[in-house]
Amino acid sequence: MGLLIRNGRVLDPAQGLDAAADLLIVDGRIAAVERGIAEQGHRVLEATDRVVCPGFIDVHVHLREPGQEYKETIATGTRAAAAGGFAHVCCMPNTDPAIDDPAVVSRLQEKAAAAIGVRLHVLGALSKGNAGRELAEMGRLSDSGVALFSDDAFPIQSSRLMRHAMEYARGLHRGVALHCEDKDLAGDGVMNEGPVSTLLGLRGIPDAAEDIMVARNIELCRLTGCRLHILHVSTRASVDFVRRAKAQGLPITAEGCPHHFCLTDEACLGYNTQAKVNPPLRSRDDMNAVLEGLADGTLDCIATDHAPHAIQEKDCEFDQAMMGLTGLETCVPLTLDRLVHSGVISLADAVAKLSTHPARVLVGDGHALPAGVDPGIGTLRIGAPGDVTVLDLDRPHEVVPERLQSRSKNTPFSGWKLRGAAAATVVAGRVLMEDGELIA
Ligand code: DOR
Repeated sequence: MGLLIRNGRVLDPAQGLDAAADLLIVDGRIAAVERGIAEQGHRVLEATDRVVCPGFIDVHVHLREPGQEYKETIATGTRAAAAGGFAHVCCMPNTDPAIDDPAVVSRLQEKAAAAIGVRLHVLGALSKGNAGRELAEMGRLSDSGVALFSDDAFPIQSSRLMRHAMEYARGLHRGVALHCEDKDLAGDGVMNEGPVSTLLGLRGIPDAAEDIMVARNIELCRLTGCRLHILHVSTRASVDFVRRAKAQGLPITAEGCPHHFCLTDEACLGYNTQAKVNPPLRSRDDMNAVLEGLADGTLDCIATDHAPHAIQEKDCEFDQAMMGLTGLETCVPLTLDRLVHSGVISLADAVAKLSTHPARVLVGDGHALPAGVDPGIGTLRIGAPGDVTVLDLDRPHEVVPERLQSRSKNTPFSGWKLRGAAAATVVAGRVLMEDGELIA
């Protein structure tokens, strides 16, 4: 028995497909996409007036295991993903201890297998203990199944060490996903540097702290030939650097996060710690540059930087509060409302930025893929994994922190009323979420 997703609008940017059709998944893989597929004892998921897309992939998520399970776990974080419409999540290695040991990678994959069923791709630390001093055992990590390497939240400051890391990653057919921040210049800043930080009397982080490292990492990409994914681009100059580097043919991808395309640093007014995040919410001009980058394809992916923190880590002075916000359950409504319904990008572009393009970040050159990365992810081609996100473009969605599946409820979008949401999440033909309710 398979799963028949019936009467939907099937949208697969990888094939340029946008047509009314049924979609059948058998034995965990796409078996047919055509009109009028017979029911024949299959489980039926009605998709009338809905859009049937490749399963969404979030390349930037913090699931906090090991070590900070009070904020999130593989189990709770993957439930949040399923609730938000994500079939795949990529978890960052800035855990405690860092994900710099192959045994940890296997343990996390076991936990994901025992959880709701969202596919987990583990990112390995570039440096031992995320300390930025010596490289992690990248070869062993790669053998254990890490999909990409990252220094997220603890960016490697030494250009020489980063060069070596990128040379190793390239040799292993892995890309690197980099948080671009000059820590010395960012200093002990807590929000964007500008009129709002002056008004609030808070220490600022200038755009240049990001721009300098984006430029450096682009040059190291040129030097090493290593695939580079730039995490959470937030400034106009960074968008410009990425645009130019891509025009020169460098193997670069980049992401924009919903908070950077929906909010400015004014969200910090009133010392609102829910809006404290790194890179910080920027000026209106920077936000517009992120929107322009999404619109012209400079920013290929939409990713959440889902960063759960406990109540006591946010319910405190702005200076003391942790940086980050949960994103898995607000990303799709914010994308549909703020980007698609407002005409910034087409629906097909939004779907590509949530499926086709993040799949390419994971699959890369297709060589020596880790066990968990099927080369067919991110499409609805026959034979591809049966991972599907169904969208309801008009469903009213109010952000209510208490209703989030994530163990942490930190969000600056509380009370926002948005139009559009994921209506179902399917992985390997299993329905994990339907009409906002988790099923497994
Ligand atoms: O705001 C952030 N929170 N930015 C990061 O880079 C890391 C993340 C976290 O781990 O909390």
